[in-house]
Amino acid sequence: VIPHSETNIVFDSPLSQIPPEFIWPEHERPSIEPSPPLSIPIIDLNAFNSGDPLVVSRTISLVDEACKGHGFFLVINHGIDYNLINEAMKNMEFFFEKSLAEKQSAQRKLGEQFGYANSFINRFSSKLPWKETFSFAHCDVEKYVTSVLGEEFRQFGKVYQKYCDEMSNLALNIMELLGISLGVGSKYFRKFFEGHNSIIRLNNYPPCKNPDQTLGTGPHCDPVSLTILYQDVNVSGLEVQVDGKWFSVPPNKDALVVNIGDTFMAQSNGIYKSCLHRAVVNNQQKRVSMAFFMCPSMEKVVKPPQELLSPEKPRLYPDFTWQSLLKFTQLHYRSDMNTLDAFV
Ligand code: SIN
Ligand code: FE2
Repeated sequence: VIPHSETNIVFDSPLSQIPPEFIWPEHERPSIEPSPPLSIPIIDLNAFNSGDPLVVSRTISLVDEACKGHGFFLVINHGIDYNLINEAMKNMEFFFEKSLAEKQSAQRKLGEQFGYANSFINRFSSKLPWKETFSFAHCDVEKYVTSVLGEEFRQFGKVYQKYCDEMSNLALNIMELLGISLGVGSKYFRKFFEGHNSIIRLNNYPPCKNPDQTLGTGPHCDPVSLTILYQDVNVSGLEVQVDGKWFSVPPNKDALVVNIGDTFMAQSNGIYKSCLHRAVVNNQQKRVSMAFFMCPSMEKVVKPPQELLSPEKPRLYPDFTWQSLLKFTQLHYRSDMNTLDAFV
């Protein structure tokens, strides 16, 4: 008998059926028909920085419209070097290809934010996601990964530190864009996010024999402020729910996917929407993605700027801190609604 920690009973399973814990209730399963593509604007950051007032205002109104609707848009000319993205992808592969025992030396413990997680061995409930993930803080990456995974991961740490630094810059630039589109000025959110506690999560979705019965990531809204996702250029999987229907966000090799999270929804006094999304899997190819989650600094009080409040538009959410929301999501995770609706 091969001990659990050295094999991956589900990934490598000879079963023709996936284990029952991974089979989702019928009403949550993806349909066999592929979902139609989401109508999603492509935001050119060069255009935003061009200084041409007409081009800038067109860019801002596209962002505004998307954020008031489903909260998703694509960014191109985002300034992240493709060599760096490729390096990050290679290093992600290097990690996920390690044996389960090795990956488990970075095991994420219950109630913790960082580390390796997989539901393929710790099967404790129904509706498990068909994926494994590795999450860590955006700073001190090299120190963290070498401390849990050893010297062999020094290069991984260097690459992801650079990736996180560039993602932080990009997230702050997007915050300028959102500040302008909300009418509170370009510096408001940049200042708010000083000392941010952002997180990166690497996702690996193996192929699955029964992709129509399971989900890679179940329906959820991101509790964070903003998510910037790099998704596999070859394999689609991300889907967004609009008016009760699922739409896919097909990969675009030049673009990163940006979406508003629950915390930013509160920061915008509900004007910008955090929307339900999920990731589906397929029976042909594995899929990977890298999510950068922009989160406020732990203790900072989250509240909308005065400009977004009026007698007609009263406060929708009370003050909270990212720390308290994070704790709440770990205790009472509800996959089927905005975290804030359960939190307040
Ligand atoms: C997620 O929303 O957490 C995952 C998105 C993806 O892998 O495309
Ligand atoms: Fe998400």
